[in-house]
Amino acid sequence: MSQPMSHMPEDGPETPNLDFKGTTPYEDYVQADVLTHLQHPLSDDPGEMVFLVTTQVMELWFTVLVHEWTTAARALREDDLPTAMAALGRSTHELESLNASWRPISHLTPAQFNSYRAALGEGSGFQSGMYRRLEFLLGEKSASMLVPHRGTPRAHDELEKALQEPSLYDEVLRLLHRRGYAIPTAVLERNPALRYEPDPQVERVWQQIYAGDQDSELVRLGEALTDVAELVWRWRNDHLVATRRAMGAKTGTGGSAGVAWLEKRVQKNPFPEIWTARSHV
Ligand code: HEM
Repeated sequence: MSQPMSHMPEDGPETPNLDFKGTTPYEDYVQADVLTHLQHPLSDDPGEMVFLVTTQVMELWFTVLVHEWTTAARALREDDLPTAMAALGRSTHELESLNASWRPISHLTPAQFNSYRAALGEGSGFQSGMYRRLEFLLGEKSASMLVPHRGTPRAHDELEKALQEPSLYDEVLRLLHRRGYAIPTAVLERNPALRYEPDPQVERVWQQIYAGDQDSELVRLGEALTDVAELVWRWRNDHLVATRRAMGAKTGTGGSAGVAWLEKRVQKNPFPEIWTARSHV
């Protein structure tokens, strides 16, 4: 790391160091020079820059969320509930920041979006490897979602690993089992590479937990997961509405039916029994 050179004293409060032998320690840590030169718009439209940067900002938040939920899943596996709760708590604030970043592009008119839409070609957020890892952690597993990433070995390897690993919710259910709750063997021993399907006995377990002491650590865990699920649903819904405003019922650049396909995705709730159990408490 570079060493600051001495500077002349001035009147008033000490000013920051100006002279560094090499790059600044800030640059060494943040790599701002790299980060702020990764923006290569594909059209001449001045409105494309914020679309690109918003997408990049969201990718960074996806990366942070994957980190938090991986931390939480590992901590749950080790019966370290405080570490898991801290990571889940941080992730809800991060999700709020992620969702707030829709603001600059949530009111595009079709004509504004059309100004650079063609330049995107077949590019679509659907091809985001980090978003897919995030969905895998939530239990929304699908081997076919690896296919688009065959040409990107690192992303493909990371996704393949995430597909085979238990999701955050799998780890939650295993912890409930170790705490004496009747999670079915078929759920505990399920193939983690398959999409999680709701189970009536798991719903009864959440019903039992939620009917009990409201200050218990398992109710607090359930509520932390509920916060995460709600904010993920909000991201999906904000995405749907922004899409509806920008392109109506046209097909997506990624080749899907567009809004009709996204409407189906919004109907999925992460951690399903935490929601359905509420009807029986
Ligand atoms: C107004 C701007 C946007 C429009 C009109 C739009 C449109 C769409 C459409 C139509 C799809 C369905 C797949 C396809 O056929 O392309 C999609 C998927 C997706 N988009 Fe966007 N999008 C927008 C902004 C963003 C941004 C900023 C991100 C951030 C990374 C993003 C991330 C995603 C993801 C992750 C999916 C896949 C969702 C899933 O698998 O459930 N989109 N988008």
